[in-house]
Amino acid sequence: MNKFSEKVDFFKNHRKRIGLLILTSLLIGTVYNGLGIAKDPASPQSKRVKRGEYLVNTAGCHDCHTPWVMKDGGPGPDMPRALSGHPEKIVMPPPPKLEGPWVWIGAGTNTAFAGPWGISYAKNLTPDRTGLGTWTEKEFITAIRTGRDRDTGRPILPPMPWPVYRNLTDEDLKSIFAYLQTISPIENTPPPVQALAAPVAAAP
Ligand code: HEC
Repeated sequence: MNKFSEKVDFFKNHRKRIGLLILTSLLIGTVYNGLGIAKDPASPQSKRVKRGEYLVNTAGCHDCHTPWVMKDGGPGPDMPRALSGHPEKIVMPPPPKLEGPWVWIGAGTNTAFAGPWGISYAKNLTPDRTGLGTWTEKEFITAIRTGRDRDTGRPILPPMPWPVYRNLTDEDLKSIFAYLQTISPIENTPPPVQALAAPVAAAP
């Protein structure tokens, strides 16, 4: 038997298996693409996510929404808990009484803040149900533009710089939201705020 007929025989004997293999790969490919796992880096949505990542990393979201820990080179955001907000396990004692020009104070995690507005805790921005998992793009844009909490309609308290972020374009806010929906979901419910007074006036 020559090499060619050997190959033909092999194909004949394994025809069913080869067919099944091709079918399985096709099926996997369809599911893979359907889920959007195979991302085309040039697609408008991928560009939006990339831009959103850039904005989140430059607009300081990690400063307050990622708990800070002591690292070798000094304090810094604890990236395994990226953007998960004030850790629910850290129960803050009442803030110390501040005097003179010292009017506000922050926790070492940089996720809990007390000032004339009361006490605020950075929210979970990950796509978990305890974070922004149940939010729509429209709700996100409205919250940033109006400075009102999605669930209660109350003013969003300092130091969340929404009076600055509301100046971002719709496209940039959409990009931030798109990126936030792609990060690892982390289950964490920060405590509710304790509002005392009207928050600061909005910047231009
Ligand atoms: C200086 C600290 C700080 C920075 C920087 C910051 N946040 Fe916040 N953010 C907070 C705090 C504190 C809250 C909770 C305020 C409240 O509950 O009233 C909050 C709340 C939010 C909320 C929830 C609003 C709601 O409806 O309750 C969203 C969404 C949000 N931040 C997104 C962002 C994004 C996106 C960035 C970066 C572009 C960012 N934040 C940067 C401190 C900050």
